[in-house]
Amino acid sequence: MLSKKMQKQLNEQIKIEAESSQVYLAMASWAEIQPGIDNVTAFFYQHSEEERQHMLKLIHFVNERGGFATVPALPQPQLTFPSIKHAFAALLKHEEFVSESINKCIEVSLEEKDYATNNFLQWYVAEQIEEEALARTMNDKLELIGDDKSGMYLFDKDILTISIDIEQ
Ligand code: FEO
Repeated sequence: MLSKKMQKQLNEQIKIEAESSQVYLAMASWAEIQPGIDNVTAFFYQHSEEERQHMLKLIHFVNERGGFATVPALPQPQLTFPSIKHAFAALLKHEEFVSESINKCIEVSLEEKDYATNNFLQWYVAEQIEEEALARTMNDKLELIGDDKSGMYLFDKDILTISIDIEQ
């Protein structure tokens, strides 16, 4: 059985994962109307879907442990970006924020001596390490490319392979 405090923290995390999915969905929709970045677009759609899966995994966990997972209201995310570089900088910042919120969940699980939840949350800790690493790699590459159009062509060509390599 989840304590009230643990349930509250996990419901907060459900909201954050749902928001993440919306944030990346907005990036995907914006990218889709930019010319020549079909794979960047696919990357954002895929990332949005993954965040939805993170949210669902939490919802099932809370409900299976005798709690009640609450589906949150969500604010509208940022809809447009000055450049691809700005979108990826926002993605990294957002992932750092998600990692902090996972850390808060871990802290509460330890305070509450809820070792089952702590064990469950380790998957999210590992996932955040991967996602931050991926976001940093993308930002580093975009920094190198600068305004070079052929570099951007290659970035779009390689993005799906880069994300698969890091996630393996
Ligand atoms: Fe589920 Fe990228 O945080």
